[in-house]
Amino acid sequence: MMSSNVRSKQVSVLFVCLGNICRSPSAQAVFEAYIKNAKLSHCILVDSCGTASYHINEAPDSRAIAAAKRRGYIMAHLRGRQLCLEDFERFDYILAMDKENLANIQALKPVSSKAQVALFLDFDTQSSIHEVPDPYYGGAQGFEQVLNLIESASVGLLQHLQQKHFK
Ligand code: 4NP
Repeated sequence: MMSSNVRSKQVSVLFVCLGNICRSPSAQAVFEAYIKNAKLSHCILVDSCGTASYHINEAPDSRAIAAAKRRGYIMAHLRGRQLCLEDFERFDYILAMDKENLANIQALKPVSSKAQVALFLDFDTQSSIHEVPDPYYGGAQGFEQVLNLIESASVGLLQHLQQKHFK
């Protein structure tokens, strides 16, 4: 007999930014740490990608890796990839870092896809900020702000998934 704490449901979350070297791999690393802490790693699949093709197979930006590492998140092993049509069938949640990426995701979404496409920060019930600003051309503080926004929204996203899928 299956033990009562074995969860049969699988939920999948894809974080999307432009290059997949700054914001979305940071969101992947942070959210993976949050679900590990909540003992939900085995039932939530997390991945990230970019809408652009500039950084395919590249490691995350060294500034993003360093900022994440200072907070205990490991992301140096991740590699850039581009959003593809298959993602719309594989993932339940496709979460964009900003409105421009959201529009590009929505434009690619096949009508057959049941994926929920939304802004990641809309899961943050404590904040009125809707977009994670692109830190690529800015300074180190931008990467700290990215992590602050991601950590806060991860709390809300985890609560949402727990209530909707794992209650
Ligand atoms: P990301 O940041 O979308 O958060 O990964 C960027 C990375 C690279 C570029 C722009 C944004 N780029 O223009 O190469």
